[in-house]
Amino acid sequence: MKKVWIDTDPGIDDTYAIAMLLEDPRIEIVGVSTVFGNVTVDKTTRNAKLLLEAAGKAQVPLACGAANPLYVPLDTSPFVHGANGLGDMPLPEASMQECPLRAPQALIDAILNNPHEITLLPIGPLTNIAMAIILEPRIVDLVKEVVIMGGAVHCPGNITPAAEANFFHDPHAAQIVIGAGWKVVLAGLDVCNRGLIPQQMLEKIGNGKSPLAPYMKGSLPFFKNFLKLFEMGDAVTLPDTMAAAYLLDPTMFTVKSEYLFVETEGSCQGQSLAVPRGKWYEDPGSKVRYPADDHIQIVEVLLDVDPCKFLELLDRLLV
Ligand code: BDR
Ligand code: CA
Repeated sequence: MKKVWIDTDPGIDDTYAIAMLLEDPRIEIVGVSTVFGNVTVDKTTRNAKLLLEAAGKAQVPLACGAANPLYVPLDTSPFVHGANGLGDMPLPEASMQECPLRAPQALIDAILNNPHEITLLPIGPLTNIAMAIILEPRIVDLVKEVVIMGGAVHCPGNITPAAEANFFHDPHAAQIVIGAGWKVVLAGLDVCNRGLIPQQMLEKIGNGKSPLAPYMKGSLPFFKNFLKLFEMGDAVTLPDTMAAAYLLDPTMFTVKSEYLFVETEGSCQGQSLAVPRGKWYEDPGSKVRYPADDHIQIVEVLLDVDPCKFLELLDRLLV
């Protein structure tokens, strides 16, 4: 069994990613934490509760997390995910209890109680994970792996030309998490843009066996409407599903170790930049250390995915 803690901002694509993990018997979801991002944290928490309740998993610890980024002002994306975060579909009241601890402490406790066993799956802004590192740095050595949906290393961003939304929404947190010194696998837009899901498959999923099918079906039209801006045709990319797919079958991905730097300031806030030789200034004879050098870290970047295997996985889990 793979023990997974999901840190999320549901979120239409978050819903699909969670649905995938719920369907694989090799995955044990040991906890879910919520963060602002696609919408405010009260709404992402309500949505996460609804998803767990629909799946019959109300016993899974659900910890509400950060309402704001570490430093930059709060920014959310209701134009992508709807004002309620689930495409403005009608939603019931959520009833499950949430954990008495806030997300960073709940995460820390779970990791300390399961040393070297938990895989973290952050699919929203990285604020909770950064705060957990700041509060309890020992977690860095006690987590098995961190698989992040975030960043855009060799391609444009999706919220600014430079930045992907999860990194843009809290660039300082992204930099802390990337630079912490643990094993990070990055499912950024490089690979997420390649995971096109055709309309026919989306329809099958919407009418499929997942207990979250009504949420996937109900929320998708809003997202598809937003995507019309980009003239992608009928197919859709759902970024968070790529990070989930990596957990379920890493063999379908092309991976490259790269030195990475996250910009925290200015117009390029949230940009994830590959640093070819792991050093900011190119003169090999230079003894000068630039501030950026302290934040460069090697990361496993997902560059490509086998599209057939990805669609087969969705078919197996959700249809
Ligand atoms: C990421 O930002 C959010 O809109 C999505 O849920 C995903 O996690 C994609 O850039
Ligand atoms: Ca997300």
